[in-house]
Amino acid sequence: MSDVQEAVAAVESDGPTAPAPLLSLRGVSKSFGPVRALTKVDLDVPAGQVTALAGDNGAGKSTLIKTVSGLWEPDEGDILWDGRHVRMHGPRDAEALGITTIYQDLALCDNLDIVQNMFLGHERLRRGLLDEGSMERSARETLESLHVTTVRSVRQQVGSLSGGQRQSVAVAKAVMSRSRLLIMDEPTAALGVAQTTMVLELITRLARQGIGVIVISHNLNDVFEVADRIAVLYLGGLVAVVPKEEFDRASIVEYMTTGTLERQPGRETGGTPANAGGRN
Ligand SMILES: Nc1ncnc2c1ncn2[C@@H]1O[C@H](COP(=O)(O)OP(=O)(O)OP(=O)(O)O)[C@@H](O)[C@H]1O
Ligand SMILES: [Mg+2]
Repeated sequence: MSDVQEAVAAVESDGPTAPAPLLSLRGVSKSFGPVRALTKVDLDVPAGQVTALAGDNGAGKSTLIKTVSGLWEPDEGDILWDGRHVRMHGPRDAEALGITTIYQDLALCDNLDIVQNMFLGHERLRRGLLDEGSMERSARETLESLHVTTVRSVRQQVGSLSGGQRQSVAVAKAVMSRSRLLIMDEPTAALGVAQTTMVLELITRLARQGIGVIVISHNLNDVFEVADRIAVLYLGGLVAVVPKEEFDRASIVEYMTTGTLERQPGRETGGTPANAGGRN
């Protein structure tokens, strides 16, 4: 049995009762030739909270989520899932653990309807035929459970949906596949104001349902709106993991642009080790 299978089996037999964080990275490094994209990253991602991943262009955000999604194997360091070591050899291993990543292009098929998209590759069969009724019902119930009310019909082609509605379908798909960790790369980048609000509310609701969420965003308004905690990467190193309440925008920007904080709000001394300001 691979360690991914063991971790899945452990959750199925014991239930996810361990106090360990859902996901932990320990000393994770990843290089591309001479470029050190991640340097000894330690990060805990708890269930039921939104962790925003901030950082300037090239800071290593995408590399980090690709590592957690099984696309890259770390050069060194460990990944723990429910406190157990796992080595993922591809996206399927991450999927088996319950890790779903929604990339910016969403990977939805425009020419298929919402139900077909949500069940793509996992179609339900009944006596050898597609069980359309059951899939349609589940798709509708999942969208309703997420309070997605603007979609007229689950038989609408995805190509005809707005950006926010497409995000909602992608999220509902992840929820339906019983994801425990949802990773979203710039979920609001292409959205207008109302759609952004809708997607941010959806993210908050997911976390309240107990799902762990990692959100990458360049938009600090979104970060402060949706995050419970903010992790900042700088040149591949994790320089801060702070509960949202503990830091203001200026501090986060300073971390993002310099990798450190000269002057900490409410504190006398400067210079901050990674993970300061809160439990990682
Ligand atoms: N496949 C790759 N091959 C070579 N270098 C890469 C590859 N992927 C990332 N890098 C390098 O690793 C570093 C981190 O890149 P990464 O894409 O993780 O940054 P990012 O924080 O997601 O940036 P952005 O905000 O621009 O998306 C960069 O210097 C980048 O050039
Ligand atoms: Mg990126």
